[in-house]
Amino acid sequence: MLKKKSKKNDTNETLVQELEELSEMSDYAAEMIIESELGADSLDGNDKEVSESREIIKEYQKSVRDNIMLPTLREKVVDVPVIDGDIMEQLKILMQHSQQFQEMEMMYSCAIREVRTKAEVLNDEMSVRYHRNPISSITSRVKNPESIANKLYKKGLPFTVEAIMANLSDVAGVRIICEFVDDIYSIAAMLAMQDDLKLVKIKDYIKYPKPNGYRSYHMIVEIPVFFSKGKTPMRVEIQIRTMAMDFWASLDHELKYKKNINPEDEEIIADELHACAERIAETDEIMQQIRMKLDSLEKNNR
Ligand code: GTP
Ligand code: MG
Repeated sequence: MLKKKSKKNDTNETLVQELEELSEMSDYAAEMIIESELGADSLDGNDKEVSESREIIKEYQKSVRDNIMLPTLREKVVDVPVIDGDIMEQLKILMQHSQQFQEMEMMYSCAIREVRTKAEVLNDEMSVRYHRNPISSITSRVKNPESIANKLYKKGLPFTVEAIMANLSDVAGVRIICEFVDDIYSIAAMLAMQDDLKLVKIKDYIKYPKPNGYRSYHMIVEIPVFFSKGKTPMRVEIQIRTMAMDFWASLDHELKYKKNINPEDEEIIADELHACAERIAETDEIMQQIRMKLDSLEKNNR
Protein backbone atom coordinates (compact mmCIF):
# COMPACT_ATOMS: atom_id res chain seq x y z
CA MET A 1 0.00 0.00 0.00
CA LEU A 2 2.80 2.38 0.81
CA LYS A 3 4.49 2.54 -2.56
CA LYS A 4 7.21 5.10 -2.95
CA LYS A 5 7.50 7.50 -5.87
CA SER A 6 11.02 8.50 -6.55
CA LYS A 7 11.25 9.45 -10.21
CA LYS A 8 11.55 13.17 -10.74
CA ASN A 9 9.81 14.69 -13.71
CA ASP A 10 10.43 18.14 -15.16
CA THR A 11 6.96 19.06 -16.31
CA ASN A 12 4.79 21.05 -13.91
CA GLU A 13 1.75 18.89 -14.55
CA THR A 14 3.49 15.68 -13.58
CA LEU A 15 5.14 17.37 -10.67
CA VAL A 16 1.83 18.64 -9.32
CA GLN A 17 0.30 15.21 -9.83
CA GLU A 18 3.21 13.58 -8.11
CA LEU A 19 2.94 15.99 -5.21
CA GLU A 20 -0.76 15.26 -4.90
CA GLU A 21 -0.10 11.53 -4.78
CA LEU A 22 2.73 11.98 -2.32
CA SER A 23 0.53 14.26 -0.24
CA GLU A 24 -2.12 11.55 -0.01
CA MET A 25 0.46 8.95 0.89
CA SER A 26 2.01 11.31 3.38
CA ASP A 27 -1.34 11.83 5.13
CA TYR A 28 -1.79 8.10 5.34
CA ALA A 29 1.76 7.61 6.53
CA ALA A 30 1.41 10.28 9.20
CA GLU A 31 -1.71 8.55 10.46
CA MET A 32 0.16 5.26 10.66
CA ILE A 33 3.02 6.78 12.60
CA ILE A 34 0.80 8.58 15.05
CA GLU A 35 -1.31 5.47 15.57
CA SER A 36 1.78 3.40 16.16
CA GLU A 37 3.28 5.95 18.58
CA LEU A 38 0.03 5.86 20.46
CA GLY A 39 0.30 2.09 20.53
CA ALA A 40 -2.73 1.26 18.43
CA ASP A 41 -3.38 -2.48 18.42
CA SER A 42 -3.70 -2.70 14.67
CA LEU A 43 -0.08 -1.69 14.21
CA ASP A 44 1.59 -3.70 16.93
CA GLY A 45 4.99 -4.88 15.83
CA ASN A 46 4.67 -3.39 12.34
CA ASP A 47 8.00 -1.57 12.37
CA LYS A 48 8.64 -1.98 8.65
CA GLU A 49 5.48 -0.13 7.72
CA VAL A 50 6.30 2.64 10.20
CA SER A 51 9.78 3.18 8.81
CA GLU A 52 8.36 3.19 5.27
CA SER A 53 5.87 5.81 6.40
CA ARG A 54 8.65 7.99 7.76
CA GLU A 55 10.43 7.74 4.42
CA ILE A 56 7.32 8.82 2.52
CA ILE A 57 6.76 11.87 4.73
CA LYS A 58 10.39 12.78 4.35
CA GLU A 59 10.21 12.52 0.58
CA TYR A 60 6.95 14.47 0.32
CA GLN A 61 8.22 17.34 2.40
CA LYS A 62 11.53 17.42 0.60
CA SER A 63 9.70 17.51 -2.70
CA VAL A 64 7.44 20.40 -1.61
CA ARG A 65 10.43 22.27 -0.28
CA ASP A 66 12.72 21.70 -3.25
CA ASN A 67 10.18 22.10 -6.01
CA ILE A 68 7.74 24.69 -4.81
CA MET A 69 9.14 26.66 -1.97
CA LEU A 70 12.88 27.05 -2.25
CA PRO A 71 13.14 27.91 -5.93
CA THR A 72 10.66 30.72 -5.61
CA LEU A 73 11.46 32.26 -2.28
CA ARG A 74 14.60 31.92 -0.28
CA GLU A 75 14.22 34.55 2.42
CA LYS A 76 10.54 34.84 3.20
CA VAL A 77 9.50 31.26 2.60
CA VAL A 78 7.45 29.44 5.16
CA ASP A 79 9.89 26.59 5.02
CA VAL A 80 8.85 23.05 5.71
CA PRO A 81 11.62 21.20 7.49
CA VAL A 82 12.66 17.77 6.33
CA ILE A 83 11.58 15.26 8.91
CA ASP A 84 14.59 13.91 10.66
CA GLY A 85 14.59 12.73 14.22
CA ASP A 86 11.66 12.86 16.57
CA ILE A 87 8.46 12.78 14.59
CA MET A 88 6.33 14.52 17.23
CA GLU A 89 8.86 17.35 17.52
CA GLN A 90 8.78 17.82 13.73
CA LEU A 91 5.01 17.79 13.66
CA LYS A 92 5.01 20.57 16.27
CA ILE A 93 7.30 22.69 14.05
CA LEU A 94 5.00 22.11 11.10
CA MET A 95 2.04 23.27 13.15
CA GLN A 96 3.85 26.49 14.06
CA HIS A 97 4.59 27.17 10.42
CA SER A 98 1.00 26.67 9.50
CA GLN A 99 -0.12 29.25 12.09
CA GLN A 100 0.08 32.21 9.71
CA PHE A 101 -1.74 30.30 7.00
CA GLN A 102 -4.47 29.45 9.48
CA GLU A 103 -4.78 33.14 10.28
CA MET A 104 -5.07 33.97 6.59
CA GLU A 105 -7.72 31.29 6.14
CA MET A 106 -9.67 32.79 9.04
CA MET A 107 -9.49 36.25 7.41
CA TYR A 108 -10.84 34.93 4.11
CA SER A 109 -13.60 33.06 5.96
CA CYS A 110 -14.62 36.33 7.60
CA ALA A 111 -14.69 38.10 4.23
CA ILE A 112 -16.91 35.31 2.90
CA ARG A 113 -19.25 35.77 5.85
CA GLU A 114 -19.55 39.50 5.07
CA VAL A 115 -20.46 38.82 1.43
CA ARG A 116 -22.90 36.04 2.33
CA THR A 117 -24.62 38.36 4.82
CA LYS A 118 -24.98 41.04 2.15
CA ALA A 119 -26.59 38.55 -0.22
CA GLU A 120 -28.85 37.15 2.51
CA VAL A 121 -29.99 40.64 3.50
CA LEU A 122 -30.95 41.42 -0.11
CA ASN A 123 -32.79 38.12 -0.39
CA ASP A 124 -34.72 38.71 2.86
CA GLU A 125 -35.67 42.20 1.82
CA MET A 126 -36.91 41.09 -1.59
CA SER A 127 -38.81 38.17 -0.14
CA VAL A 128 -40.82 40.56 2.08
CA ARG A 129 -41.24 43.20 -0.60
CA TYR A 130 -42.02 41.00 -3.60
CA HIS A 131 -42.98 37.70 -1.93
CA ARG A 132 -40.30 35.89 -3.86
CA ASN A 133 -36.76 34.72 -3.13
CA PRO A 134 -34.42 35.66 -5.97
CA ILE A 135 -31.63 33.62 -4.37
CA SER A 136 -32.27 29.93 -4.06
CA SER A 137 -28.98 29.04 -2.37
CA ILE A 138 -25.53 30.32 -1.46
CA THR A 139 -22.39 28.23 -1.15
CA SER A 140 -18.87 29.32 -0.33
CA ARG A 141 -15.37 27.99 0.18
CA VAL A 142 -11.86 29.04 1.01
CA LYS A 143 -9.50 27.64 -1.63
CA ASN A 144 -7.58 24.70 -0.20
CA PRO A 145 -3.82 25.13 0.41
CA GLU A 146 -2.90 22.64 -2.28
CA SER A 147 -4.83 24.55 -4.98
CA ILE A 148 -3.33 27.80 -3.70
CA ALA A 149 0.16 26.32 -3.94
CA ASN A 150 -0.51 25.02 -7.48
CA LYS A 151 -1.79 28.40 -8.66
CA LEU A 152 1.16 30.28 -7.15
CA TYR A 153 3.54 27.77 -8.65
CA LYS A 154 2.01 28.16 -12.12
CA LYS A 155 2.28 31.95 -11.81
CA GLY A 156 5.88 31.65 -10.62
CA LEU A 157 5.04 33.22 -7.27
CA PRO A 158 6.30 32.29 -3.81
CA PHE A 159 4.15 30.36 -1.38
CA THR A 160 3.69 33.18 1.12
CA VAL A 161 0.75 34.93 2.70
CA GLU A 162 1.89 38.22 1.10
CA ALA A 163 1.98 36.72 -2.40
CA ILE A 164 -1.44 35.14 -1.90
CA MET A 165 -3.11 38.33 -0.62
CA ALA A 166 -1.55 40.46 -3.37
CA ASN A 167 -2.01 38.19 -6.38
CA LEU A 168 -4.87 35.75 -5.95
CA SER A 169 -8.46 36.92 -6.24
CA ASP A 170 -10.25 33.64 -5.75
CA VAL A 171 -9.02 32.39 -2.40
CA ALA A 172 -12.41 33.32 -1.00
CA GLY A 173 -15.28 32.25 -3.23
CA VAL A 174 -19.02 32.76 -2.87
CA ARG A 175 -21.49 31.20 -5.30
CA ILE A 176 -24.99 32.64 -5.43
CA ILE A 177 -27.59 30.53 -7.20
CA CYS A 178 -30.60 32.43 -8.51
CA GLU A 179 -33.88 31.24 -9.94
CA PHE A 180 -33.96 33.50 -12.99
CA VAL A 181 -31.44 35.29 -15.18
CA ASP A 182 -32.75 38.77 -14.35
CA ASP A 183 -32.28 37.98 -10.64
CA ILE A 184 -28.57 37.58 -11.34
CA TYR A 185 -28.29 41.10 -12.73
CA SER A 186 -30.46 42.57 -9.94
CA ILE A 187 -28.36 40.97 -7.22
CA ALA A 188 -25.11 41.96 -8.95
CA ALA A 189 -26.26 45.58 -9.31
CA MET A 190 -27.45 45.78 -5.72
CA LEU A 191 -24.15 44.43 -4.45
CA ALA A 192 -22.09 46.70 -6.70
CA MET A 193 -23.81 49.85 -5.46
CA GLN A 194 -22.98 49.19 -1.79
CA ASP A 195 -20.41 51.78 -0.88
CA ASP A 196 -18.22 49.60 1.33
CA LEU A 197 -17.73 47.14 -1.46
CA LYS A 198 -15.14 47.89 -4.14
CA LEU A 199 -15.70 46.33 -7.52
CA VAL A 200 -12.38 45.07 -8.85
CA LYS A 201 -13.46 43.11 -11.92
CA ILE A 202 -16.55 41.83 -13.69
CA LYS A 203 -16.68 38.93 -16.13
CA ASP A 204 -20.06 38.49 -17.73
CA TYR A 205 -20.00 34.98 -19.10
CA ILE A 206 -23.78 35.17 -19.58
CA LYS A 207 -23.66 37.87 -22.22
CA TYR A 208 -20.35 36.49 -23.46
CA PRO A 209 -20.32 32.73 -22.79
CA LYS A 210 -17.03 30.86 -22.84
CA PRO A 211 -16.37 28.88 -26.05
CA ASN A 212 -17.27 25.65 -24.21
CA GLY A 213 -20.70 27.11 -23.30
CA TYR A 214 -19.92 28.07 -19.68
CA ARG A 215 -22.27 30.75 -18.36
CA SER A 216 -22.09 32.63 -15.10
CA TYR A 217 -21.66 36.19 -13.83
CA HIS A 218 -18.36 36.72 -12.02
CA MET A 219 -17.46 39.62 -9.77
CA ILE A 220 -14.20 40.15 -7.96
CA VAL A 221 -14.86 42.47 -5.05
CA GLU A 222 -12.84 43.91 -2.24
CA ILE A 223 -14.58 44.09 1.10
CA PRO A 224 -13.27 45.65 4.30
CA VAL A 225 -13.15 43.31 7.27
CA PHE A 226 -12.60 44.76 10.74
CA PHE A 227 -10.13 42.78 12.82
CA SER A 228 -8.66 43.70 16.21
CA LYS A 229 -5.71 45.45 14.55
CA GLY A 230 -7.87 47.44 12.15
CA LYS A 231 -9.51 47.23 8.76
CA THR A 232 -8.21 44.87 6.06
CA PRO A 233 -9.55 44.92 2.50
CA MET A 234 -10.13 41.34 1.41
CA ARG A 235 -10.80 40.02 -2.08
CA VAL A 236 -13.70 37.69 -2.76
CA GLU A 237 -14.77 36.06 -6.02
CA ILE A 238 -18.54 36.04 -6.38
CA GLN A 239 -20.08 33.75 -8.99
CA ILE A 240 -23.76 34.36 -9.69
CA ARG A 241 -25.66 31.89 -11.86
CA THR A 242 -29.04 30.25 -12.34
CA MET A 243 -29.80 26.75 -11.10
CA ALA A 244 -29.65 25.57 -14.71
CA MET A 245 -26.25 27.15 -15.32
CA ASP A 246 -25.01 25.59 -12.09
CA PHE A 247 -26.28 22.17 -13.12
CA TRP A 248 -24.29 22.45 -16.36
CA ALA A 249 -21.14 23.75 -14.65
CA SER A 250 -21.18 20.92 -12.11
CA LEU A 251 -21.22 18.28 -14.81
CA ASP A 252 -18.60 20.12 -16.85
CA HIS A 253 -16.39 20.35 -13.76
CA GLU A 254 -16.83 16.67 -13.04
CA LEU A 255 -15.83 15.70 -16.57
CA LYS A 256 -12.67 17.79 -16.33
CA TYR A 257 -11.42 15.37 -13.70
CA LYS A 258 -12.24 12.25 -15.67
CA LYS A 259 -8.97 10.91 -16.90
CA ASN A 260 -8.31 8.27 -19.51
CA ILE A 261 -10.79 9.65 -22.04
CA ASN A 262 -9.37 9.47 -25.55
CA PRO A 263 -9.22 12.76 -27.55
CA GLU A 264 -11.91 11.65 -29.98
CA ASP A 265 -14.45 10.91 -27.25
CA GLU A 266 -13.42 14.07 -25.45
CA GLU A 267 -14.27 16.13 -28.52
CA ILE A 268 -17.66 14.45 -28.90
CA ILE A 269 -18.45 15.05 -25.23
CA ALA A 270 -17.33 18.68 -25.48
CA ASP A 271 -19.68 19.19 -28.45
CA GLU A 272 -22.55 17.55 -26.59
CA LEU A 273 -21.89 19.66 -23.52
CA HIS A 274 -21.80 22.78 -25.64
CA ALA A 275 -25.16 21.88 -27.19
CA CYS A 276 -26.57 21.31 -23.68
CA ALA A 277 -25.34 24.72 -22.58
CA GLU A 278 -27.21 26.35 -25.47
CA ARG A 279 -30.41 24.42 -24.68
CA ILE A 280 -30.09 25.33 -21.02
CA ALA A 281 -29.71 29.01 -21.92
CA GLU A 282 -32.87 28.84 -24.06
CA THR A 283 -34.74 27.16 -21.20
CA ASP A 284 -33.56 29.84 -18.78
CA GLU A 285 -34.90 32.47 -21.14
CA ILE A 286 -38.29 30.77 -21.51
CA MET A 287 -38.60 30.29 -17.75
CA GLN A 288 -37.85 33.98 -17.33
CA GLN A 289 -40.62 34.91 -19.79
CA ILE A 290 -43.11 32.61 -18.05
CA ARG A 291 -42.36 34.27 -14.75
CA MET A 292 -42.81 37.74 -16.21
CA LYS A 293 -46.14 36.64 -17.69
CA LEU A 294 -47.26 35.29 -14.32
CA ASP A 295 -46.19 38.53 -12.63
CA SER A 296 -48.19 40.67 -15.03
CA LEU A 297 -51.27 38.39 -14.81
CA GLU A 298 -51.12 38.67 -11.04
CA LYS A 299 -50.86 42.45 -11.26
CA ASN A 300 -53.89 42.67 -13.60
CA ASN A 301 -56.00 40.47 -11.33
CA ARG A 302 -55.41 42.66 -8.29
P1 GTP B 1 -8.96 30.60 -12.77
O1 GTP B 1 -9.77 29.76 -13.75
O2 GTP B 1 -9.36 30.32 -11.34
O3 GTP B 1 -7.51 30.53 -13.02
O4 GTP B 1 -9.33 32.12 -12.95
P2 GTP B 1 -9.60 33.03 -14.22
O5 GTP B 1 -8.90 34.29 -13.99
O6 GTP B 1 -9.39 32.30 -15.50
O7 GTP B 1 -11.14 33.33 -13.98
P3 GTP B 1 -12.46 32.77 -14.61
O8 GTP B 1 -13.45 33.84 -14.28
O9 GTP B 1 -12.32 32.37 -16.03
O10 GTP B 1 -12.77 31.46 -13.77
C1 GTP B 1 -12.92 31.46 -12.39
C2 GTP B 1 -13.77 30.30 -11.91
O11 GTP B 1 -14.98 30.19 -12.69
C3 GTP B 1 -13.16 28.94 -12.02
O12 GTP B 1 -12.33 28.66 -10.94
C4 GTP B 1 -14.41 28.04 -12.03
O13 GTP B 1 -14.98 27.94 -10.73
C5 GTP B 1 -15.36 28.85 -12.87
N1 GTP B 1 -15.23 28.50 -14.30
C6 GTP B 1 -14.64 29.23 -15.27
N2 GTP B 1 -14.69 28.61 -16.46
C7 GTP B 1 -15.35 27.44 -16.25
C8 GTP B 1 -15.73 26.34 -17.10
O14 GTP B 1 -15.48 26.31 -18.29
N3 GTP B 1 -16.40 25.31 -16.50
C9 GTP B 1 -16.73 25.30 -15.18
N4 GTP B 1 -17.38 24.24 -14.69
N5 GTP B 1 -16.37 26.31 -14.36
C10 GTP B 1 -15.70 27.36 -14.87
MG1 MG C 1 -10.03 30.20 -15.82
